[in-house]
Amino acid sequence: MKVIIDSAENIAAMAAQQYVNLLKRKPNAILGGATGSTPLGLYAELVRLNKAGEISFKDASSFNLDEYVGLDGSHDQSYRYFMDHNLFDHIDIDKSRTRVPSGIDTSDPAAYDKEIAAAGGVDLQLLGIGNNGHIGFNEPGTPFGSLTHIVELTESTREANKRFFASIDEVPTHAVTMGVKTVMQARSIILMAIGPAKAPIMKAMLQGPVTENVPASVLQLHPDVTVYMDYEAAKLL
Ligand code: GLP
Repeated sequence: MKVIIDSAENIAAMAAQQYVNLLKRKPNAILGGATGSTPLGLYAELVRLNKAGEISFKDASSFNLDEYVGLDGSHDQSYRYFMDHNLFDHIDIDKSRTRVPSGIDTSDPAAYDKEIAAAGGVDLQLLGIGNNGHIGFNEPGTPFGSLTHIVELTESTREANKRFFASIDEVPTHAVTMGVKTVMQARSIILMAIGPAKAPIMKAMLQGPVTENVPASVLQLHPDVTVYMDYEAAKLL
């Protein structure tokens, strides 16, 4: 695992460079998308590079990590809406090749894994990290062998995410997420963490044991992970 510690601005630029390199080498790469406030700087940089002609997504595809159950893509808190507004609508990607798990049709979540496999597998999976170590919405205790599935969100996650909703009652209770195994099958992974609230979990993820109680700790077992952190997220290392 490669760990890079720098300012939030610099880590966004460095992570963006990994996308530039990948898409130069493999223009039809499959990207794994993530939501949350952490990737916003990276997405803004990708938009800038795309507009400057330094990167093209025209042959790329994407599979996002997760979605709230019950929200369709027109809901402004759905992850489909987030991806469209923060990235896809501003770059030259073919929107029909961008996938977000459906929060409405949840009859066969693991079909998402088959779609990913049929497309050739994710080349570069982006991850943020929850305060409790979740990746995607794989909460503590999720088996490392899990494929895409429905999860009940923990109170701490609903609490952390309520800032985006009118009240906690409106935060969905369930989500559909790629499983830990789905994530681990990506050929390369970037995990980003920004801000002091992430410091304790970054210490647990990087310096603690590999345990299902800290889902992100599984990344210690992956052969190609780059962790980008700002100084505040790294302050307990
Ligand atoms: C959500 C998402 C995660 C994300 C996490 C952290 O719960 N499902 O994929 O990594 O929040 O979000 P933030 O980057 O806003 O701290």
